[in-house]
Amino acid sequence: MSIYGDYIKSVIRTVSDWPEPGVNFRDITPLLQNSAAFRKLIDSFVHRYQEMNLDAIAAIDARGFIIGAPLAYELGCSFVPVRKKGKLPFKTISETYTLEYGHSEVELHADAFKPHDRILLMDDLIATGGTMLAAANLIQRSGGQVVETATIIDLPELGGSAKIREAGYGVFAVCS
Ligand code: PRP
Ligand code: ADE
Ligand code: MG
Repeated sequence: MSIYGDYIKSVIRTVSDWPEPGVNFRDITPLLQNSAAFRKLIDSFVHRYQEMNLDAIAAIDARGFIIGAPLAYELGCSFVPVRKKGKLPFKTISETYTLEYGHSEVELHADAFKPHDRILLMDDLIATGGTMLAAANLIQRSGGQVVETATIIDLPELGGSAKIREAGYGVFAVCS
């Protein structure tokens, strides 16, 4: 939990039964509409990562981009998109992961990182952890070092953050 965790949580909206019955969807759009809250959110990440000597911020398509790009700008790091299948034009490496129903795939450009680059991997939310773990594995395969994974919201009751930690990656969440 970060210094602004309770405040950030208070400006995230929960929409019940969306996109399907039984899901409590965490909607970050009220947080993004509130410029003071959005600034505090990015400041929380700056506070945690400014002394960590990062080379790059990698962020996951699509909501991860919203936080990854401003953090890369603030820290003076490069920005690397981890995209859903079929969106990157150059040579890619890919990783398949399991969703609640079916499978999905994330891709990374093969030349995205230099060997041993220190990388922070970001996404907006961890539910089952499948998306973050697939992206972290992809970065390791590309030769980069995942210094930590970071998110706005962790849903620990779904077990995703525990699974990511068991796989050997650190997890930082602003709120849960
Ligand atoms: C959502 C969310 C995370 C992922 C978390 O992305 O933004 O990336 O699901 O779920 P998991 O921990 O169970 O993998 P989604 O692909 O639904 O949509 P987006 O394109 O809006 O980011
Ligand atoms: N992605 C997966 N589960 C989610 C949830 N409960 N809210 C928002 N995004 C999600
Ligand atoms: Mg997403």
